[in-house]
Formats: sequence, C-alpha cells, structure tokens
Amino acid sequence: MIKNITPVLAIASGKGGVGKTSLTLNLATVLARQGHNVLLLDGDTGLANLDVQLNLQPEKDLAHVLAGQATLSDIMLPVPKLTSTKGTVTLIPGRAGHSGLANVTQPQLTTLLTDLHTLSSQFSITLIDVAAGVAPAQLLMCAQSTSTLLVTTPDPSSLTDAYALIKLLWQNHGTSNTRLIVNQASKTEGSQVHTRLTTAAEKFLQLPPLPLLGVIPADKLYSTAVKSQQIAALSYPQSTAVTAIETLAKTFNQ
Ligand SMILES: Nc1ncnc2c1ncn2[C@@H]1O[C@H](COP(=O)(O)OP(=O)(O)OP(=O)(O)O)[C@@H](O)[C@H]1O
Ligand SMILES: [Mg+2]
Repeated sequence: MIKNITPVLAIASGKGGVGKTSLTLNLATVLARQGHNVLLLDGDTGLANLDVQLNLQPEKDLAHVLAGQATLSDIMLPVPKLTSTKGTVTLIPGRAGHSGLANVTQPQLTTLLTDLHTLSSQFSITLIDVAAGVAPAQLLMCAQSTSTLLVTTPDPSSLTDAYALIKLLWQNHGTSNTRLIVNQASKTEGSQVHTRLTTAAEKFLQLPPLPLLGVIPADKLYSTAVKSQQIAALSYPQSTAVTAIETLAKTFNQ
C-alpha cells in the first residue's frame, strides 16, 4: 500500500454485476454533497464506462496516458452533473474495448497507480471503479489502494468470488485492507454475509475481522435510475439505497 494523506479507495467485487459502477457514481455524488472534492478513476480497463454513464465524451482518456501521449492531469475532466455547491467530482476516463487498456502490463499499471496517488493529494478522496474479476490488474489496484471496498450481494457465487479476492490479496500481496459492502441485501442478510466472510477469512487465512462498512438494500428506484442512465442520488435522493449510501459515506467524513 502506498501511504497517502487522502484515501484512495478501490471499489472491487470479484463477481461482475454486483453494483460497483453505480455505487461508485452514487458514492461520489453523495461525498461531493457532504463537502468532498472527489477524484474518480475508471479502473475497468477492459470495459470502461463511467464516462458513458455520465454522458461525457472525453477527448483523451487512459489509453493516451498509457501510450505516453498525456498525463493523468491532462485527461481529467470535471463532472458538473455530480458537483454540488459543497464539493466537486472530477473524472479520469477509461476507454471501453481498447486493447492497450485491456492488456495493460503490471509495470504500466504500477506507474499509473503511482501517478494517481500523487494526483490524489489534490483531492479529499479518490474512488477507483475496479473491473470485475481477480486478475493481476484488479488485485494490483486493490493492493495499491488505501482500502478496498469489497462489494458483494448475498448471492452465493458473489460471496465465493468476494472470498477469492480477499484470499488472493492476502496471498499475493500481503494486503488485508478490505472493508465489506453488502449490496441488494436486508440488514439481516448483510450481517449474515459479513459473518460468513469474516469467519472464513479468520479461520482459513488467519486474518483479523473484516469491517462491515455498510449494507445497501435492493431498491427499485435505484435500478430504474441506472437503467435510464441517471444517478439515483440525484433523481431519487430519498430512496432507501441512496440513504444507505449516505450513511456509508459519512464514514469518510472524519
Ligand atoms: N441496491 C440496488 N438495488 C437495485 N438494483 C441494484 C442495486 N445495486 C445495483 N443494482 C443493479 O445491478 C445492476 C448492475 O450494477 P452495476 O453496473 O453498478 O454493477 P457492476 O458491479 O459495476 O457491474 P460490472 O461488473 O459489469 O462492471 C444494475 O442494473 C443496477 O441497477
Ligand atoms: Mg461496472
């Protein structure tokens, strides 16, 4: 882990489709409303789409940075839609389907993450939307972060993949920086998932208890917003999922 004064949080999952991208965007919106200046990195190097979700058409993106044609500060762009009177959101866009990004090498990624940490000191918090999976690139993004926000649903395959991420981070990087977010779950389901994961991590990996950062309920309004390319925190600020994300975001206000 690179030491940094402001947190760099990797939002990761193992299994795909559990809610990382929508959580990243809603968490950024809520954090900006709570007074943070948020930096977002589209870390889904294979299928980046934060810019699409935000309806932005960046001129340059991470592919230019990896090709040595631009720096991270050159390509970052403000996201007025998510910016509030109290705080800002700034995006470092990726590019969907670009082979250079999908095949990013470990040294390239290490340089990129080092540059990101330098840049992140200009912001109060940085969020990385990490691709699904437990490939070396995903593990490196998590290992180089201040903390990994591990998103899982109560679905058994999502839990298995979440455990795989915890295990590989520990075995390959000696990293145990993970905090759990249970998505699309009731409070009871959330605490059951937390107990199962933390028990397995303690028993088989001898890891300390895994903190539970939050439980986000399944929310129709939230999924309606995602489907219509809206941000639930803007369109449905009173919805149950957004309220849970607001509570979770307050953890970063200390
Ligand atoms: N709390 C929730 N309530 C209802 N629907 C949700 C919730 N969280 C996520 N979803 C739905 O789950 C789907 C997947 O969400 P999202 O794209 O954010 O996942 P992802 O983890 O980024 O996926 P991928 O791994 O493909 O990048 C979306 O249709 C979204 O509406
Ligand atoms: Mg995603």
